[in-house]
Amino acid sequence: MEVPVSKRSHWGSRIGFILAAAGSAVGLGNIWKFPYVTGENGGGIFVLIYLACVLLVGLPVMIAEILIGRSTQNSPVGAFKTLAGDRSPWVGIGWLGVFTSFVLLSYYSVVAGWSLHYTWLSISGQLAGLGPEKVAPVFGQLYGSAGTNLLWHLVFMGLTVAVVYGGVAKGVERWSRILMPALLIMMLVLLGKSLTLDGFGKAFHFLFGFHQDKFTAAGALEALGHSFFSLSLGMGAMITYGSYLRRQDNVVGASVTISALDTCIALGASLMLFPIIFSYGMEPAAGPGLVFISVPIALSQMPGTTFLATIFFALLVFAALTSAISMLEVATSYLIDRRGWQRRWAVVTAGLTIAAVGLPSALSGGTRLFGAGMEELVGKNWFDSLDYLVSNWMLPLGGLGIALFTAWRMDRRLRQEEFLSGSRLRSFYQGWVFLLKFPVPVAILLVFLHAVGLI
Ligand code: TRP
Repeated sequence: MEVPVSKRSHWGSRIGFILAAAGSAVGLGNIWKFPYVTGENGGGIFVLIYLACVLLVGLPVMIAEILIGRSTQNSPVGAFKTLAGDRSPWVGIGWLGVFTSFVLLSYYSVVAGWSLHYTWLSISGQLAGLGPEKVAPVFGQLYGSAGTNLLWHLVFMGLTVAVVYGGVAKGVERWSRILMPALLIMMLVLLGKSLTLDGFGKAFHFLFGFHQDKFTAAGALEALGHSFFSLSLGMGAMITYGSYLRRQDNVVGASVTISALDTCIALGASLMLFPIIFSYGMEPAAGPGLVFISVPIALSQMPGTTFLATIFFALLVFAALTSAISMLEVATSYLIDRRGWQRRWAVVTAGLTIAAVGLPSALSGGTRLFGAGMEELVGKNWFDSLDYLVSNWMLPLGGLGIALFTAWRMDRRLRQEEFLSGSRLRSFYQGWVFLLKFPVPVAILLVFLHAVGLI
């Protein structure tokens, strides 16, 4: 069942769309993952390669996604049906996106739940009271506690459902307009603090200095994979958000703004975390534990722990929430557009299903129930397996499909008209199509070859 265009929900304002899409992009990927991946890859060159990936691979795919959404006024499955025909195999990209949204949100919500837990520990003054030795084991206790994980996972899913329930303008947009500026302010406060620390110079050098010896091909591919994750590409999230735009809205300009914001916030997060890490003698290459172990240990030694830690973890929660709502919106819009459901039933059903799919992830640290068989089988527990699958396979595959479709299959005239409608960047059209035709698919194929161990 098609929803007539005139009845479709739209964003209330241009800035509302930008904040919502930037909210989708800015997430745990920026504040939790980017700094530790940068740390593991030695900073410097990795940051440079990441910037190149955003510009040459991420940005073109983002333009393609938003453009497909705006042009069809439909969520991913419907969008490909409209452009390629009901029975076309290209519709598979849409299906993959909807499926990925269920899987991704199911474990993303568990990490977001950890952030909620730490926010609670911070606000209630517990982090300040513990002292560094007792802060170190907190993460292990949390990871191992099935009940605590479950509680926060469900609370976070509840919050996400509550926002998406309100609809496009009154839910997603309204909350993005509150949470995103709040996030920026909190980040500036923490950045201001980091600037005053001894470790700032060292951190700056680590991030922007040129250390050739640290360059590895694997690091470059990791940068590429992460740029996809960070910009929320490959899943149809941007198709969905783009579908609530009006025809005259500027897709190219918006994509540039969103990508720039996302990148600045990833760099800002690193500039705020690494001085803290260096000033308190911690390791930058701490892996996933950077934000949940090293940072709390450092914060607990600083004057004003409660205040600083509360701001930091609330920032993490806000970032995660605006991303999670975009994932739930993909699933929800599918049920509304293709199945004709009412929004409230669509949101509640999708939310409950995702919460249930997330149970094994929430429990995989605390029980042998879901970890055990998996670990013996693939060497990873449930949670890690899903993250590996989504980040290395499902998102790049979706992105590859979207790039190939836009470059090779989409009606040329429509593509050009859509690109130029509302945008003044005429001269970029040819370059954009060229990138999508060759360099982007080749780059993504390299990620796959690396994932299967061929390079
Ligand atoms: N970009 C988000 C982050 O950095 C994660 C995210 C939200 C996402 N929506 C997505 C990733 C859609 C891929 C597809 O945390």
